[in-house]
Amino acid sequence: MIEKIGTDAAKFLSTPCYEVKDYLGRLLKNNPSPLNVAEIGVGYGATSIEIVKMLREEDTFYFYSFQDEVDELNEDLSKQDYCKCKLVPLGNSHTLYDSFCWNLGKQVIDPNNKNGLFDLVFLDGAHSFLFTGLACVLSKKLIRKNGYLILDDLQWSYGNSYNLNPQVYPQILEQYTQEQVDTLQVQMAVDAFLENDINWKCLKNNKRRAVYKKVSTANAMLSVFLSRIGLLKEQTTE
Ligand SMILES: C[S@@+](CC[C@H](N)C(=O)[O-])C[C@H]1O[C@@H](n2cnc3c(N)ncnc32)[C@H](O)[C@@H]1O
Repeated sequence: MIEKIGTDAAKFLSTPCYEVKDYLGRLLKNNPSPLNVAEIGVGYGATSIEIVKMLREEDTFYFYSFQDEVDELNEDLSKQDYCKCKLVPLGNSHTLYDSFCWNLGKQVIDPNNKNGLFDLVFLDGAHSFLFTGLACVLSKKLIRKNGYLILDDLQWSYGNSYNLNPQVYPQILEQYTQEQVDTLQVQMAVDAFLENDINWKCLKNNKRRAVYKKVSTANAMLSVFLSRIGLLKEQTTE
């Protein structure tokens, strides 16, 4: 799979996410303890390769996509000399309503993960509100305090998608209303689940990508109360 990076077939999926490298670098600098990093939606592995190059032996890379994609990527990455970390491929089927959300959901309800699992999640899978919204909610639960959630393609909509817009793929209008086709659905997930959450701080939003940090794990009602009486101090180390 990774041999396709840089070819015409992978022309929109050959550039690794800069923010993932940047914030993972910060975590590695400040953290002697093992890190868990997740990428949701792997494409051809452009960002996965960079993550794996950076991770150490004690760290773990979890990656979610369709089963055939994660199997191929797992095989490719395990052969690389730079791959020192543990690899955890988590695949799902191609059936209509299946997605990475199913594996994320199982991890959320696993009692072993009750204090969180991830230090960084890169959410870059299916961009519909249906899947990205749920993956965002589940990822928020799985991210540990001071961990990062990075979302890609804030400007994406079905209407402006090169292969799913109604001119190229008219069936989209049987699945979504015109309003939904026109809406930036990843941005909608950000607005619905991150923007007003006092436990999360936006560190960067360049309109294409957003980086959020989990600054507190207090329950939402308690956080509002504590911040009102000045007892909730945000962590400022980024
Ligand atoms: C934009 S690409 C990811 C690019 C990659 N993160 C990178 O930086 O190179 C989106 C990925 O999500 C996967 N995906 C889309 N819908 C999915 C679903 N329902 N279940 C699992 N994976 C899905 C696609 O197959 C594709 O690999």
